[in-house]
Amino acid sequence: MTGLCTGRVAVVTGAGRGLGRAHALAFAAEGAQVVVNDLGVGLDGTGGAAGPAQRVVDEIRAFGGEAVAHGGDIATAEGAASLVATALEAFGRLDTLVNNAGFLRDRMLVNLDEEDWDAVMRVHLKGHFLPLKHAAAHWRAEAKAGRTPEARVVNTSSGAGLLGSVGQGNYSAAKAGIVGLTLVASAELARYGVQVNAIAPAARTRMTEQTFADTMAAPEDGAFDAMAPENVSPLVVWLGSSASAGVTGRVFEAEAGRITVMEGWRPGPSADKGARWTPAEAGESALKLLAAAETPQPVYGTR
Ligand SMILES: NC(=O)c1ccc[n+]([C@@H]2O[C@H](COP(=O)([O-])OP(=O)(O)OC[C@H]3O[C@@H](n4cnc5c(N)ncnc54)[C@H](O)[C@@H]3O)[C@@H](O)[C@H]2O)c1
Repeated sequence: MTGLCTGRVAVVTGAGRGLGRAHALAFAAEGAQVVVNDLGVGLDGTGGAAGPAQRVVDEIRAFGGEAVAHGGDIATAEGAASLVATALEAFGRLDTLVNNAGFLRDRMLVNLDEEDWDAVMRVHLKGHFLPLKHAAAHWRAEAKAGRTPEARVVNTSSGAGLLGSVGQGNYSAAKAGIVGLTLVASAELARYGVQVNAIAPAARTRMTEQTFADTMAAPEDGAFDAMAPENVSPLVVWLGSSASAGVTGRVFEAEAGRITVMEGWRPGPSADKGARWTPAEAGESALKLLAAAETPQPVYGTR
C-alpha cells in the first residue's frame, strides 16, 4: 500500500479498540507497517485478552496492509521493551510511536481509593513514559550511528488533563502529566531526530459512550458521524509521518471535523514589588492582577 507513511513502521498502544484501533487502521491505510498493541483489558483495566489486538491485525491484513499483534502491558518495562523489539524484529525499523492505551477509574476525590489513583497514574503516565524511553533509546542509537531518523511520537492527553474534569482527579492529573512529559521529550529528543506532540481527542468509544450517550450517538440519517473515532486519526497519522517536519512540543485538540491548537500556560498580568510582600499586600496585589487576567476555561463537569 502507498501513502503518507509508506516505508514507515508505526507502533500504536491500546490499538485493539476505540481510538487506537482507528489510528492503527489509518496508519496501515497510508502504507505504514503497524504493531498493534493491546492488553485486552476491561474498561477499568482489569482482565486481559489477546482477541482485540489480533482482530485489528486481521482487519489490516484483510485490506492488504501489514501488521503484527503485541499483547504486552505497556506500563511495564518488559512490555515496553518487547513492544519496541517487536517492531524491529517484525519490520526491521521503528519510525512512529503512538501512546494511546489507558483506562478510567472515575470517583470524586473524597471517594478515590489509593489503588484507583495508582492504577490510572500507572497506565497513562508510566504507560507513556516507558514506551517513549525504549523507543527514544533506539532512536538515539540510530542517530549516533549516523542514521538520524525522522521519528515521531504522538502522546494522548485529554481535555480533562488540560482543563480538569469533575470526578476524574486521577485521570486529569495523569493526562496533565502527559503534557509535561511531551514538552520535556520534545526538547530532549530533537537532537536525535525525534518530534513529540500530544493530542486531546474526543470520540465515541466504550470510554465515553455511556456518559455522553446523547451527544456522541451516531446519526441515523447518514449525516457526518462527528464523534466516530476515525475522525481523530488523520491528524495522528500526519503527526506520525515525515510530512509533519518542524512540528514538535505542541498539543492539539481533535474532535469531529475540528482541529484546535491548544495554547498552554504563559505569564499573564504580573507585579514586582522588588522586595518581600506582606501577606495582606500580596493578597491585594493578587486580586488586582486577577481582575486584569483572562477568565479561565471552566472545568469539565461544572458548566
Ligand atoms: N474517547 C474519548 O473521547 C477520549 C477523550 C480523551 C482522551 N482519550 C484517551 O484516548 C485513549 C484511547 O481511549 P479510548 O476512548 O479509545 O478507550 P478504549 O477503552 O476503547 O481503548 C483503550 C484500549 O487500551 C487498552 N489498554 C488498557 N490498558 C493497557 C495496557 N496496560 N497495555 C496495553 N493496552 C492497554 C485497552 O484494552 C483498550 O483496548 C486513552 O488514553 C484515553 O484516555 C479518549
